Order: sequence, then C-alpha cells, then structure tokens
Amino acid sequence: MPFYHTLGQIPPKRHTQFTKPNGQGFYYEQLFGTIGFEGMSSLLYEVHRPTMVREVLDSVDVTPKLAVEKNMLSRKLIGFNLKPADDFLESRIPLLVNNDLIFGLAAPRQSLTSYFYKNADSDELLFVHKGSGRLRTLLGTVPFQYGDYLVIPRGMIYQIEFDTDANRLLYVESHSPIYTPKRYRNHFGQLLEHAPFCERDIVRPCDLETYDETGDFLIKIKKQGAIHSLVYASHPFDVVGWDGYNYPYGLSIFNFEPITGRVHQPPPVHQTFQTDSFVVCSFVPRLFDYHPLAIPAPYNHSNIDSDEVIYYVDGDFMSRNDIAQGHITLHPGGIPHGPAPGAMERSIGKKETQEYAVMVDTFRPLMLTEQALLIDDGKYYKSWL
Ligand SMILES: [Fe+2]
Repeated sequence: MPFYHTLGQIPPKRHTQFTKPNGQGFYYEQLFGTIGFEGMSSLLYEVHRPTMVREVLDSVDVTPKLAVEKNMLSRKLIGFNLKPADDFLESRIPLLVNNDLIFGLAAPRQSLTSYFYKNADSDELLFVHKGSGRLRTLLGTVPFQYGDYLVIPRGMIYQIEFDTDANRLLYVESHSPIYTPKRYRNHFGQLLEHAPFCERDIVRPCDLETYDETGDFLIKIKKQGAIHSLVYASHPFDVVGWDGYNYPYGLSIFNFEPITGRVHQPPPVHQTFQTDSFVVCSFVPRLFDYHPLAIPAPYNHSNIDSDEVIYYVDGDFMSRNDIAQGHITLHPGGIPHGPAPGAMERSIGKKETQEYAVMVDTFRPLMLTEQALLIDDGKYYKSWL
C-alpha cells in the first residue's frame, strides 16, 4: 500500500544497531521490497537471521494443466461445482491462466497452520466469498470476512485461519504487483476525493506476533510453477517490529462506493485494483442511471483486446439470465458481447441493482485449464440467440 505503517519496536534510525534486551546481541534487519530496490518496501527487525535454511526437501510441480490454449468461446463456469479440499494450497484450483496471472477458486476446509506459505512469484489477491478468519503474516494479522479482498505482496510468509470449514475464495496470482488505480492517487500516493474508497477503508495488519523459537519450521514456497519445501531453523514469525509501505492489507467490497451517472457508466468506474496486465473491478449495489430515457443495462461492447472474467458473488445480476452465486463468465477478446436477450428491455425503468460481482479484465488472452473445462456449462456461447 502506498502509505506508511509501522508495528512493534524499531530503532530510531534505519540501518543502525538495534540491541536485544539484557545484552543478548542484535536484532537482524531485513529489507523486504519488490521491483529490486525501486518498489514499495518495509524494514523488518527479526529475532533470528531470516536466512537459516536447515533443509531443502522435495519440490512439487503445480503448473496448471492447459486444456484450451486458443479460446474463442464465451463460457460459463459453475464455480461451486468445485469440490472442497482440506488443505489450503491443495484446495486452490487454477481455472484461467496466461503469462501474467493465474485465476482460480478455492474451497478450503481447514486452516493453514501446520506449515507456512509464501508465493515468491506473484502478488496474491484473495476475495472472500464464504467464510471468515485471520490472515496471519510475518508483518501482523489481517482479519477477514465475507466480501473482503486480501492483497498479499509477493514474498509475504503467511498462514490463514478460518472460523469454519465452509469457505469459498476467489484467488488471483499476479506476476506484476497489485496496486490501487493510479488515477485515484495523487502525486504523493494519497487516494483522491473522487476515488471509490479511501485510506480509512484499508485494513492494515495488526497484532504483530513474535515467536523466539528455534526448531524445524516448514515454509512451502511457490516459485516457477513449483511448490518448494524448505525447512528453516527459526520460527518465521519472529519480527519484533517493522515499518514501511510493503505489507498485506484488506479492503471490503462493501466499502466500495459506486460511481453512477445520468447515463450508463463504463466498466472503469468499477475499477478497484490495477496491475501491468489486468484490472480488477467491483460491481456493487447502486442506483441506476437517471436520464429519463436511460437504459441501465450495459450496451454491447467489443472488448477487442482484453478477455473479461466476471465472478458472480450475490444479488440478481441484471445483465444476465440464469446466473447464480459462484458462476464465472468468460467473454474472450476479439468478439463483442452484451446483455442477455431481454435484459436490456427488462432494465428500463429499474431504479437500482443489488448485484455483487468481481470482474477481472486481462490484457492478454486467457487459456482454460483441465479443471475449468470440467465445470464449463458448454452452451453459454449461444446464449444471445
Ligand atoms: Fe463486458
């Protein structure tokens, strides 16, 4: 996040001696940043060296298995048909991928507490559709509930605790950093008055956990399409204090304030996050357009150079027929799409919508995995006839 946060104890001057109490030596400083030394970073102070690898165990290939590499079909995937799994990582099912991201769903039954995890390749965006709990990281805890986005910068070691076994998550692994939209930030990074959310809506980490423990601590590290298992000699959560700009945070879709107009507003008004290669938009309950002849349903549009993915969260989605929670529509670039037959006429005179949905528009085409084909309804592409 492009604003400063600090937790715990830090020395008054960076890169200077920071002594432990009772003459037990020094805390160890770690610069935790992205984009070399150019991106956002935080400075951490740890009880033990963060470098104490004891063993490197096996690696497991988790490269998504592709079924359709050149897709020209509009598709509808039935997300809730994916079966839950106990383990958090094993529950994550990649559905749509390209060289920039992995988009998938997960229905984990169990908390991730028996090992630690970090994604060394990608920032992760989790959207919580069902469930609540706590994202525990080496920089503190971010509590979450239904409707929350969790942004986890690459390299962040974390565990995740769920309150129940009924959890549904959307996840995106982004190979470029995930930011708030640049046009909503001023020269200094502050969110502007016309932004649909502000700093008060950002849930920063709290409750820094510091464990001074040595032993065997397994961290599963995702890198280059594999999960590598490394055993470290000290507890990964041993930070006594940190400050900086690079940290995990939460943002509730319920705090996204819709931007409306007299006539239909284009999808960018729903934008919530940006990356180099895709955007994320939030569709939320809002008053419809108020021109006396307004058509609230969207016009047909030719997203000629982006693929559009919409994940349906809740409420009646006004532009589509036969859509339920957990459904995903994919509209490939290169061909126009638009409201379902009857949806345009049906929308006239309507005053508001109660829909919730998350949209991911990718600048490069998406490929479908084998698991995606298993939940593809197979006939959606003819639904405009
Ligand atoms: Fe669209």
